[in-house]
Amino acid sequence: MSNQDRTPYVDALLEFAQSDPGRFNVPGHQGGIGADDSLHLLVGQTGLTDDIPALIEGIDVGENNSFQEAQQLAAEAWGARRTWFLVNGASQGNQVMCMAVAHRSPEIVVQRNVHSSVIDGMIMAGLKPTFAAPEVDPDLGVAHCLTPRALADALDRCPNAGAAVIVSPTYFGASADVAALAQVAHDRGVPLVADEAWGAHLHFHPDLPRDALDSGADLVISSTHKIVGSLTQSAMLHLGFGDRFEPEIIDRCVSMTESTSPNSLLCGSLDAARRQAAIDGEEMLGETIAVLKEARAELREIDGIDVLDHSLLDNESVIAWDPLRLTIDVRGTGATGYRIAHLAREMANVNFELASDTVAVAVFGLGTGTPARSRRLIDGLLTALEHLEAIPPDRKPEFALPPPWGETAMSPREAFLASQDVVSFREAEGRISAEPLATYPPGIPNVLPGEILTRETLNFIADSIDHGGHVRGATDRDLTTLRVVSTDG
Ligand SMILES: Cc1ncc(COP(=O)(O)O)c(C=O)c1O
Repeated sequence: MSNQDRTPYVDALLEFAQSDPGRFNVPGHQGGIGADDSLHLLVGQTGLTDDIPALIEGIDVGENNSFQEAQQLAAEAWGARRTWFLVNGASQGNQVMCMAVAHRSPEIVVQRNVHSSVIDGMIMAGLKPTFAAPEVDPDLGVAHCLTPRALADALDRCPNAGAAVIVSPTYFGASADVAALAQVAHDRGVPLVADEAWGAHLHFHPDLPRDALDSGADLVISSTHKIVGSLTQSAMLHLGFGDRFEPEIIDRCVSMTESTSPNSLLCGSLDAARRQAAIDGEEMLGETIAVLKEARAELREIDGIDVLDHSLLDNESVIAWDPLRLTIDVRGTGATGYRIAHLAREMANVNFELASDTVAVAVFGLGTGTPARSRRLIDGLLTALEHLEAIPPDRKPEFALPPPWGETAMSPREAFLASQDVVSFREAEGRISAEPLATYPPGIPNVLPGEILTRETLNFIADSIDHGGHVRGATDRDLTTLRVVSTDG
């Protein structure tokens, strides 16, 4: 393996910046000379100096330039055949993936609770989805992973699928049996795509769940900025060693979905984060895992609090769990995760990554799981709990399983491009939805563009809102109205 203790792209940027270049090219602030004072305060002179445009000889132009070298080092670090740096997050990765799948077939099998960027990607690429239902945990009201059986069933319903798309690990750290899922797909000649947005770190410590590339996935979407310390919005797309996708097609899809002016700081941060993960990742992750083990033990001692860990493995679809996600089960407090996360922010300036009715989730990254930070989190939680006494606990919603999805009348793209009507929520039954609707918990879309709105689903959504749940996806956030496909031709 090549020497990972290098940062060729970062070095090339720094060398250019330090050469005191006469800057008569973009960006318009030209190294900070023309930047507003507030931008100097926000980014600092260093950030402005290092904001270097694309197409500079030696940096990202010419044979074996440093940008290409940095991507090659990333491919080697993660065990990929080829890796692309992305400047529009894993969301871009999912759009690229959909465009690449459309080259193979207009049909795709998709885990129903994929990120909204996959739905958007399907709209852009004109893909017709067949959905596979993830396992739902009825106690916690969260969606877990896909079982190999559920994937096999969906693939049997869609024999011409260009790919099967799964999500692992989930927001809550549950990891699917990706190797078994890959086997199911490959047995049918179908590539497996893993949205591993939450798992860029998995490759770098033996005690973490096995990563998707190592488990045989053909294409892996990785939101590097989420856990592996690159700058927000930077991400990677990894191609596996099989021959089910052509690298040239993926390359074209990356350039099609990307600005022609990719930000040097974002790409540089990917080069730096790769070096750190490859060289120091195991040690840093080891420390974080150890600290979080103690934090879990301490949290369990708190009245009304539990934490998710090995118990996740009781779910058939989950074969491993990621300890860097600290999922705190707050059901025993009588309050919701939303309420507790809100109080922790208001009273202690402690910010959780995510909250639901039943849980509040804290995320840790490489080197951020120190004893002091674990203390800050636990103290913030204790402060929130103290304030709960003064405030009446939230009404705790009953979690009911959603009704079956409505029939698909047209593809998401056809519904998106069709002329649309805005109708009142109560009158939407029988119409074809032009927008997605997903109730939280558990965040599985109840309706996707192109599906017929049923009375059962509309009632379920209305009930969820009455019980304090949330609905994502609708243009009218109050859900007084819905956008549906017009009946006027
Ligand atoms: C499963 C999954 N995929 C993709 C994304 C999009 O990631 P990004 O914010 O990097 O675009 C997210 C974001 O939360 C996600 O949870």
